[in-house]
Amino acid sequence: MILGRNDQRCSDTMFLEFLVWFLLLGLRSVASQQEDVDFTYNGFRGVNMSLDGLAQITNNGLLMLVNTTNQQVGHAFYPHPLHFRNSSTGNAFSFSTTFVFAIWKLIRFGGPGMAFVIAPSRKFPGALPGNYLGLFNMTTIGKPSDHVIAIEIDTLRNKEFNDIDGSHIGIDINNLKSVQSATASYFSNEQNRRVNISLIDGQPLQLWVEYNGDEKQLNVTLAPINVPKPTIPLLSLKIDLSLFIVDPMFVGFSSTTYVMPVYHFVLGWSFKMNGEARQLNLSQLPELPHLKTHKTRPRLFIILVSVIGASLALISVFIITQFIVKRKKKFAEVLEDWELNYGPHRFKYKDLYIATKGFKDKELLGTGGFGSVYRGVLPTSKTEVAVKRVSHNSRQGEREFIAEIISIGRLRHRNIVPLLGYCRRKEELFLVYDFMPNGSLDKILFDHTKTESMLSWCQRFRIIKSVASALLYLHEEWERVVVHRDVKSSNVLLDKELNGRLGDFGLARLYDHGTNPQTTHVVGTIGYLAPELCGTGQANPSVDVFAFGAFLLEVACGRRPIEPRASEECMVLVDWVILCWSKGTILETGDPKLGFDYDVQEMELVLKLGLLCSHPIPTVRPQMRQVMRYLEREISLPELTPLGLRTAIDDTSFWPSKGFSDVSIWCPYPSSTKTRSSSVVESIVSGGR
Ligand SMILES: *[C@@H]1O[C@H](CO)[C@@H](O)[C@H](O)[C@H]1NC(C)=O
Ligand SMILES: *[C@@H]1O[C@H](CO)[C@@H](O)[C@H](O)[C@H]1NC(C)=O
Ligand SMILES: *[C@@H]1O[C@H](CO)[C@@H](O)[C@H](O)[C@H]1NC(C)=O
Repeated sequence: MILGRNDQRCSDTMFLEFLVWFLLLGLRSVASQQEDVDFTYNGFRGVNMSLDGLAQITNNGLLMLVNTTNQQVGHAFYPHPLHFRNSSTGNAFSFSTTFVFAIWKLIRFGGPGMAFVIAPSRKFPGALPGNYLGLFNMTTIGKPSDHVIAIEIDTLRNKEFNDIDGSHIGIDINNLKSVQSATASYFSNEQNRRVNISLIDGQPLQLWVEYNGDEKQLNVTLAPINVPKPTIPLLSLKIDLSLFIVDPMFVGFSSTTYVMPVYHFVLGWSFKMNGEARQLNLSQLPELPHLKTHKTRPRLFIILVSVIGASLALISVFIITQFIVKRKKKFAEVLEDWELNYGPHRFKYKDLYIATKGFKDKELLGTGGFGSVYRGVLPTSKTEVAVKRVSHNSRQGEREFIAEIISIGRLRHRNIVPLLGYCRRKEELFLVYDFMPNGSLDKILFDHTKTESMLSWCQRFRIIKSVASALLYLHEEWERVVVHRDVKSSNVLLDKELNGRLGDFGLARLYDHGTNPQTTHVVGTIGYLAPELCGTGQANPSVDVFAFGAFLLEVACGRRPIEPRASEECMVLVDWVILCWSKGTILETGDPKLGFDYDVQEMELVLKLGLLCSHPIPTVRPQMRQVMRYLEREISLPELTPLGLRTAIDDTSFWPSKGFSDVSIWCPYPSSTKTRSSSVVESIVSGGR
């Protein structure tokens, strides 16, 4: 059965061979017959492959792992399980495989590549497209129980996985951080040197993966198809695969798309267990469709120019038109009629794409729970902007979502980072803000590499006042009451003159409409979340005041509201400040980086005001108008004692759920389930959202 499945060339002689073989070895068990699985597909027409996702076999026999649909995966596996392990010795068998593949990307930073995979299953439930290559997700990656061995053909540099560059081959074991990797290249016997290969220009390339079970040696070799197999492999790794495999395993390919058009093809594939895979017959491989827009081969090019210059001109016109058509498609956006009314706020995706150089890693300013922020320069006006890219899958409330953005776009205050506009495209939303050259306050405040503060007390006090006035504007001075809901130092940005400006506007609020899987229901950031939110989830301005209190303490003390690594006493900033206050040493909580270089009265005011704003009972918290007056020293703080605060905090009857009393109450969870709370705690430990 095994040989019969071999390929389309099941001729009479082969049938005879099969008969003889069967008679000779007829008594072997089914399992041991499978040891010598051997197949060669010179093209996939009529071949039984197990396909899922975007993977399909084209009419002319190409295995097309993915087409140009964004953010999808494609898997193509040999349908039968293979025994990779000698059941008596437990060792992994030797195997050898080779395949010809072609990757075509419209632009360099298109998609993340593909992989040859050996895995215990043909299905990868929950696996993500894009960087995860359709093999893992955040939870499954890196687990020894994955038993996934992959040879990645990676066309994107992913810093998360320590990728060496944007064009490499890597050996991956249960992870996308390769055990070994190398820039895509081959050793040219002729030139006696390594020659780099482009993985993405649609040229067919051949890859060999060979494992010697006795020597525990895994070799991976790459070459263009017009070059004989190089004598020196690209990757050569001593590794005992028996440590990673289970029995049985499946072999095949996994591939994914990201945001730009990309095609991944396998033209032919040969595999043999316990022996050398048969050579592919290159002349029989199916033809690739004409996708090439990248390169014309130079010699051909010269001939064309000299012989038929005129037709070349015609061809280029044709190519250009095609390119323009493709480009149009590439930059396709989601635009509905009613949105046109909002005119100026709507950016063209193309402009944002050009502005951020295609959302290049180099332009990445930061990543947070809501998405990544890129620096960019708008092509027409040459203004510097920060582009926030968030995924949103909201079908419901779409209109409200956009209306909200538009309304936020109308906020104007000198201490608020202006939202210049937005763009919507498939499942992505882009928010365009003014660029703030000095980044966010937390970066400067919590920069542990410096022993002296970059911000003097005077500057800090000014920043505090500017954030207070921004909140006052939102709460009382604008046409509607706006609750920011995510006040914290990382959302305070510093402009050229180090003025503080409140940013990331209303995103928390927006996410009530659209839902972000990572932050559903977690509106705001732990350590800044007012306790009453646990119960009602209703946001009113006093929620911002609470967070502003936490922010005041952060700025004065130079540390985060919750420091999981600190001693128990100091872990929760508020508790610690109250404790020091009751001992009469409140000033000791001031940021050590300031030395003694601060105004004692102002410092004391900020610390106590921080505590007052963070009062657990909403009605005790001052309103922003009052806060401004305290800061301007127009009025003095109300009577407040450390003991009174402590009692209020300890009054657990206030808490919506008694269950919270055994958790630090300054760290309320948005839902009372254990699982969520642990994930939230993890997110604090890993440095916030
Ligand atoms: C890609 O393939 C999928 C599944 O075969 C199909 O539904 C989709 O329309 C194709 N997309 C393009 C752009 O060809
Ligand atoms: C990852 O996939 C597993 C298995 O399907 C699933 O249980 C888990 O929820 C997924 N995790 C994420 C973060 O998507
Ligand atoms: C091949 O690529 C590597 C990595 O990008 C680069 O360092 C090297 O100089 C390239 N070699 C040649 C011959 O172009």
